Amino acid sequence: MEIIVLPDADAAGRHAAGIIARTIAARPRPVVGVATGSSPLATYRELAALVARGLDVSRTTAFALDEYVGLGPEHPQSYHAVVDREVTRRLGLDPGRVHVPDGSARDLEAACAAYEQAITAAGGVDIQLLGVGANGHIGFNEPGSSLGSATRVKTLAPGTRRDNARFFGGDPEAVPVHCLTQGIGTILRARRLVLVATGAAKAQAVATLAEGPLGAYCPATALQLHPEATVVVDEEAAAQLALREYYDFARDHARDLPAPPA
Ligand code: F6R
Repeated sequence: MEIIVLPDADAAGRHAAGIIARTIAARPRPVVGVATGSSPLATYRELAALVARGLDVSRTTAFALDEYVGLGPEHPQSYHAVVDREVTRRLGLDPGRVHVPDGSARDLEAACAAYEQAITAAGGVDIQLLGVGANGHIGFNEPGSSLGSATRVKTLAPGTRRDNARFFGGDPEAVPVHCLTQGIGTILRARRLVLVATGAAKAQAVATLAEGPLGAYCPATALQLHPEATVVVDEEAAAQLALREYYDFARDHARDLPAPPA
């Protein structure tokens, strides 16, 4: 796992956006996995700036990680609405290529299976952008989730409802109890993972996901199983990393190796 520590959230967003932009530019039909919440906002802002400077996203397909059960696209805090606002419109993506799990479906299990099939039919996710919950969740895979899980219905943790109350007028009870989320197995099938975490509230989760024992207690530790995972953090989120000297040393010498033979 590559750990990149940068001074602040804007620098983290710029770095993550650069990685995603390079993937988009390199693929004929790029498939990008997008996250909601606060962590990726700087990344979307930077990506929008790159689009304004000529990055072509016309053939890009996007898949969101998750959606609340029972909030239709018309609800401003549904992830359909959030992705439309923060990703589709900002970047100028084709709305027909942007997918969010259907949390309003009558048959939620069928909606989850259809979502997995849609990802497969698109050729799989080339690059998945992730945030991490203070409790170590990725997507809405709360602690205790199976590390091999597929898209399914989950119950949010009480702490996640408290954390997300800020999007619902400050009332944790207004945050839906259930969600649909890509599983950890689904996320691990993406060809590249980029996780962005900023702020002191994420410091413990970041230290555990990067250095802690692999396990369901901190679902984000699953990134340790992925061959192409990059974690981009600011100084506050990096505060509890024990191996910080090594991460900075590796980053500073990343380009010292000889180029591979042509
Ligand atoms: C959102 C998602 C969640 C968030 C996490 C962090 O689609 O899947 O895992 O990334 O809850 O949220 P923020 O960034 O708001 O702290």
